[in-house]
Amino acid sequence: MYGFKPIAVNETAGTKHYCACGNSNNKPYCDGSHKGSGKTPSVIEITEAKQVYICDCSGSNNKPFCDGTHKKKAEDGHGHSCSCGKN
Ligand code: FES
Repeated sequence: MYGFKPIAVNETAGTKHYCACGNSNNKPYCDGSHKGSGKTPSVIEITEAKQVYICDCSGSNNKPFCDGTHKKKAEDGHGHSCSCGKN
């Protein structure tokens, strides 16, 4: 399930596997829950320790990072997971 806003992480350097299916129980990281969904995690190399904001609304055009799209989705009344098809 997708969330309402990005997940802030004080990230360490290294290869990261960020959840792209919305089903992980260890967000923002992949926990293998995507199996059978046809989706795969976003594999990103973080070169230095820094704070990152990982998209959890599924709408970012810069995934896995937040681009602020969740704010527009909230304004449209779709800043949440629902069955309307506009998540
Ligand atoms: S658990 Fe979501 S992409 Fe792996």
